[in-house]
Amino acid sequence: MRRLSRNFILPSIMNTVRGIALRSLRLALFHFRKDISAPSSGPRAGTRYGTATSLTPSLQSTRAIRTGLKFLVIIFCFLGAGLSSRMAHSTTSILFSRFTDIAWGKRSRVILDVGCGVASFGGYMFDRDVLTMSFAPKDEHEAQVQFALERGIPAISAVMGTKRLPYPSRVFDVIHCARCRVPWHIEGGKLLLELNRLLRPGGYFVWSATPVYQKLPEDVEIWNAMSSLTKSMCWKMVKKTKDTLNQVGMAIYQKPMDNNCYEKRSEDSPPLCKETDDADAAWNVPLQACIPKLPIGPSVRGSKWPEMWPQRLEKTPFWIDGSRVGVYGKPANEDFEADYAHWKRVVSKSYVNGMGIDWSKVRNVMDMRAVYGGFAAALRDQKVWVMNIVPIDSPDTLPIVYERGLFGMYHDWCESFSTYPRTYDLLHADHLFSKLKKRCKLLGVFAEVDRILRPEGKLIVRDNAETISELEGMAKSLRWEVRMTYAKDKEGLLCVQKTTWRPKEIEASM
Ligand SMILES: C[S@@+](CC[C@H](N)C(=O)[O-])C[C@H]1O[C@@H](n2cnc3c(N)ncnc32)[C@H](O)[C@@H]1O
Repeated sequence: MRRLSRNFILPSIMNTVRGIALRSLRLALFHFRKDISAPSSGPRAGTRYGTATSLTPSLQSTRAIRTGLKFLVIIFCFLGAGLSSRMAHSTTSILFSRFTDIAWGKRSRVILDVGCGVASFGGYMFDRDVLTMSFAPKDEHEAQVQFALERGIPAISAVMGTKRLPYPSRVFDVIHCARCRVPWHIEGGKLLLELNRLLRPGGYFVWSATPVYQKLPEDVEIWNAMSSLTKSMCWKMVKKTKDTLNQVGMAIYQKPMDNNCYEKRSEDSPPLCKETDDADAAWNVPLQACIPKLPIGPSVRGSKWPEMWPQRLEKTPFWIDGSRVGVYGKPANEDFEADYAHWKRVVSKSYVNGMGIDWSKVRNVMDMRAVYGGFAAALRDQKVWVMNIVPIDSPDTLPIVYERGLFGMYHDWCESFSTYPRTYDLLHADHLFSKLKKRCKLLGVFAEVDRILRPEGKLIVRDNAETISELEGMAKSLRWEVRMTYAKDKEGLLCVQKTTWRPKEIEASM
């Protein structure tokens, strides 16, 4: 029988306790009537999720429930998430001190955390100028992603399974998987090959899991399988290390910068992908067990590492030049610069100073139709993160967003978004809805906006006047507060605030 180590028992006990706490907290969240202000700085990690005064009167009246709830909140925050925070801090401190080539917050800016739990790792990194796209499924770990978002840490609900993740190829500087349970070595390494697609040439994969540091037969078997798989993918193991305090170990691999190693392999296994396979296609695309060839040529994306952070935020990516036309019709490099100048002006003149938004209460922001990420870049001085969505029917500008050290994903707004209800503080949509209504009903999309926006959260829309007027009507029907509406030359601007109003059951069933 498999020996139960401390690393196995402790998390298992914590998962059980966390499960109980989560169920109780979900009950509380269900009864929420009021938004909880975010602290003025830093992630909400470690803060309480609510006080008894933010619950409905019926719950408030039950003193026992109130006391029990507080107790469970404490258990969850300080023992549950706290435990993984401590583990994250311990392994992360190794990453910082023993492997300086990663250069967090400079060379490595945008990273992917696979199987993030409550995303303590991403929260720790955020304060160090590293932007982490964390993801995990809804499994026995319950609503882990909901808790990450509630703490103000970016995360989405997703799984490494049968389809590609909704990101372009070669965009993540580092990929991380701690206390990792993903079976990378099975099915010809399909899942690890997906990470290979996403990793920037020269980027690192940090893998912390029992096969790296324990010697049980199962661990040894997995370690051997991983070693031959990573070798066949031309990943070089650049470090294998152990934390002296908790004995947790990690292996760090580096993806090659060019195709030399692929060409020298004695066997074409895993095979190189066919020329016809578009490595950036990532919406409903089944996983492929193949390796995309790396780009060659000085002006091709991925052939060079981006500028260091924060220079990369403002610099036009080296592979965007005037030979192609940009989204707004100018030569691509001028288009990029004009877009950034536009959003800096709009954000500073209107959103930050002219709209009455208290930015200290805003943390989780989404740009529902990002182009080059100009809106997110212009918000750099605010303590927020922005999920940049590039709709699947728009020009594929997501690699540009990543190149400048921001992050985002592809999405089809005619479908629901992969997040929990009430998880975003502010949504921004620039000329999204007028395009969308050609493909699906606006009312359905607005219902999704209502689902993901937190009570008292805001929606800012820029669009044609006709669409603005339709959206204003929908917002009013949900008893949202219209904070600002403006129209000129057939173009309009709308800022609305969601309230705590909900339809009564009778109204909802009509
Ligand atoms: C032991 S927990 C570790 C959580 C976190 N990395 C930490 O160290 O605190 C394992 C995590 O992997 C996630 N997970 C398991 N299988 C996965 C898969 N196929 N794709 C993505 N995440 C997965 C689980 O949901 C959970 O979040």
